Amino acid sequence: MIILGIETSCDETAAAVLRDGKEILSNVVYSQDIHSQYGGVVPELASRDHIKNIIPVVRKSLDDADLSLSDLEAIAVTQSPGLIGSLLVGLSFAKSLSFSLDIPLIAVNHLEGHIYANFLTHPEFNPPLLGLIVSGGHTDLLIIEERGKYQLLGSTLDDACGEAFDKVGNLLELSYPGGPEIEKLALKGNPNAIPFPVGSVKEYDFSFSGLKTSVLYYLRKLTEEEKEKQKANIAASFQKTAVTMLVKKSIKAMREFKIMKIAVSGGVAANECLRERFFREAKKEGFEVYFPHKIICTDNAAMIAACGYDHYKRGDIASLSVKAEPTETIY
Ligand code: KG4
Ligand code: ZN
Repeated sequence: MIILGIETSCDETAAAVLRDGKEILSNVVYSQDIHSQYGGVVPELASRDHIKNIIPVVRKSLDDADLSLSDLEAIAVTQSPGLIGSLLVGLSFAKSLSFSLDIPLIAVNHLEGHIYANFLTHPEFNPPLLGLIVSGGHTDLLIIEERGKYQLLGSTLDDACGEAFDKVGNLLELSYPGGPEIEKLALKGNPNAIPFPVGSVKEYDFSFSGLKTSVLYYLRKLTEEEKEKQKANIAASFQKTAVTMLVKKSIKAMREFKIMKIAVSGGVAANECLRERFFREAKKEGFEVYFPHKIICTDNAAMIAACGYDHYKRGDIASLSVKAEPTETIY
């Protein structure tokens, strides 16, 4: 079965074509660079840019797959959560394609899409799993009881982890998004140079705003010259602290719930320091750790199509009157 995935929940215009929910025939991601000059996503500019790019991106996804519109058998689209204007562009486009081609429309939750980036990468693994979604908008620790059934254990009380990377990137005057830039800069620094506080919040929740503020206060004490010298150490120390928070809580949950496998996903899952640390710590305790292919960690439509395929198999087809929901979750 040939399914088209469409993703426009934030600042990536993405389309992908999958065969039978697992074979990626094409995966096109257009990242809007218009936001870098503002240091963050400007919602109105994002939706306008989606409108400009949705047709070329979908066309390229078909061309790359060597298919035409008439080959499509279903369309999966991100319907929630995200920026309302951005979601509306993808959803309206998907509805019109579904109507004109007379093929089913499947509404996908973006967070569930991130979970499916792991199912797509590791088709052999099965729930129960612990899940950690770390992106620019979410930091959620959950139990994946089965495909389609999730139980939230905890989430961030303030900034999402990726958001903290981006904000610290801004403080260090790095380009947007800060996550990959911090990772690069951290390679030149000492992760133990500055003991930023790990912070403590209850149970399985997270908090990153205290860490971000510690970086701000640390920077305020430095002269311009010291700042330049310390930048790489700050990046490395911040990254290590953020990773420690994520790994510690995840391991604690795996022990408590006796779940031996964890699937980490979302944009921050592309971070090599996070990957290494998870593999190292989990190995000591006999846990298995899974990450998606790096290319499908950050927002993409392949994960949306994979998730949509499972919904389709369960008969979960959306009506053409389905609405975009900016805050809906899967728990
Ligand atoms: O999943 P995603 O593409 O979008 C959301 O759903 O939010 O995640 C984007 C976030 C951004 O905050 C970005 O800085 C972060 O993921 N990110 C990274 C890395 N690559 C992307 N953070 C740390 N290290 C990376 N290599
Ligand atoms: Zn995302």
